[in-house]
Amino acid sequence: MKYSLGIIGYPLGHTLSPFMHKAVAHELGLELQYKSFEVNPKALGDFMKRFRDTSLDGINVTVPHKVAVMEFLDGLTDEAITIGAVNTIYRKDNKLIGDNTDGFGFIESLHQNARVDPSGKSIFVYGAGGAARAIVTSLAGYKAKKIVIANRTYKKAEKLAVKAKELGCVVDCISNEDSKLIGSIRAADIIVNSTSIGMEGVDEKELPGISGIGPSSLAVDIVYRPLRTKFLVKADSIGAVTLDGLWMLIHQGARSFFRWTGREFPTQLARSVLLTRLSNN
Ligand code: ATR
Repeated sequence: MKYSLGIIGYPLGHTLSPFMHKAVAHELGLELQYKSFEVNPKALGDFMKRFRDTSLDGINVTVPHKVAVMEFLDGLTDEAITIGAVNTIYRKDNKLIGDNTDGFGFIESLHQNARVDPSGKSIFVYGAGGAARAIVTSLAGYKAKKIVIANRTYKKAEKLAVKAKELGCVVDCISNEDSKLIGSIRAADIIVNSTSIGMEGVDEKELPGISGIGPSSLAVDIVYRPLRTKFLVKADSIGAVTLDGLWMLIHQGARSFFRWTGREFPTQLARSVLLTRLSNN
């Protein structure tokens, strides 16, 4: 079986997805092409029209097309509807279906790699952007007891909170300067960074308030460059369990890979090839 896949974004930057999918397919003995398509937002409609008639089996969708692409699809999975964005498109019965595997990837990383179930837990989330939206709505869907969203732009946290509350979760919002920050982190079972703070070459400062992390908590970062962010190093030094951003990347990729190929994704193998790749860069 031969698979033809790709990713659309603008600009595409340093995505690890092409490498990850090709490396895993190679290990599984599958013939898989994965191309990068830099699509200007103005040309998205044209690209999607052409996509229907190509031999592409599916694509990943990244910034800034995750929301805009939805109008060009024939159907959406429940996850894509709940999150309100698409990161994976696959074909089913001659139709183009949009899915969002980011939330699944996050929850799966908690289950598989930290042995933690978020249901009934108190969770503190830094960020209210696209990644936070997938994480917070998925946590609410998994019956987290309470979520505190902290964001530099308070209004965006409030907007995200509306969505999580609709899913039945208790949600509080604070700004990054709020005096309640440390106390909220202290009260949380799981602390998640879903901002770009800590990312190499972008913003390597420390997250505010992380001295509030307790030794029995779980600290999760979505940043994977560097793998051990300042946030995770600090959490580790306090005695907390830590989970780096590579696991979410792997599990969201695993779900997309399954949508396209029907094949299970060897996650440990994916991690080892990604670690080698990251250490060579
Ligand atoms: P993504 O799709 O990767 O989530 P995004 O939607 O641009 O990207 O969201 C980035 C998140 O990181 C936002 O929560 C952003 O805060 P704002 O909503 O205030 O923009 C947060 N973020 C990025 N750089 C930051 C910084 N230097 N300090 C604090 N928060 C930052």
